[in-house]
Amino acid sequence: ALEREYPANKKFKYQLMTTIDHEKKRAALEAVKYVRSGMTVGLGTGSTANLMIKELGRQVANGLNIIGVPSSEHTRKLALELHIPLISLAEAARIDLTIDGTDEFDPYLQLIKGGGGALLHEKILAYNSDLVIIIADSQKQVKRLGSFKLPIETIPLATQKIIQSLTQMQLQPTLRVKEGQNFITDEGNYILDLNIKHITNIPSLNNRLKEIPGIVETGLFLDLADIIIVGKGESIRTYK
Ligand code: 5RP
Repeated sequence: ALEREYPANKKFKYQLMTTIDHEKKRAALEAVKYVRSGMTVGLGTGSTANLMIKELGRQVANGLNIIGVPSSEHTRKLALELHIPLISLAEAARIDLTIDGTDEFDPYLQLIKGGGGALLHEKILAYNSDLVIIIADSQKQVKRLGSFKLPIETIPLATQKIIQSLTQMQLQPTLRVKEGQNFITDEGNYILDLNIKHITNIPSLNNRLKEIPGIVETGLFLDLADIIIVGKGESIRTYK
């Protein structure tokens, strides 16, 4: 979005990036205040979640006693480097709290996630957590979802058929590519990014997508977030 809005002014873009990084950090530090010793904590994925994980790592080194449940291979590696004790999603009996980032959130705490391609594990974590805290910089706040392309995870075998169906639904599916190869999720699946700007009934779209065989999960996180903590310049906003 930044590239689109500020293509020419590199200095301004750099300053904005610095502000955004600070906002992410503020939100991450605020969210970590909800973590207590003894908790099992779902660890999200992405640059904002990384900041939260680094702070947890710092606190674990100072005696905080938690068990983390990573939402991606990337997060698992980072948490291991920081010596945060981990168990897998399958092993976790219950998850007290999950802290994760987002690509967009609206006034009703509905989200688009999956920019980092970890939406499936992230959604399973969120669904199975007693409390879900989303951390974000101020650029993620929108009046209505859809400026960000909606990621969905698809089974490779079915992906061409799914692309045909979604094209007919005018969702302009694009197969996600990374370094010249199809992006592969931690579950070995593909990601399609959909243009949902024109969609007014998001829950209905979500249901229609879930009915198409081979779509494993969508990046629409509806009614899953309990708290959203947003860094806004020098301050923090909390939405519940
Ligand atoms: C990964 C996600 C991320 O939480 C989302 O993309 C936000 O990332 P970042 O904090 O880097 O902006 O959903 O699948």
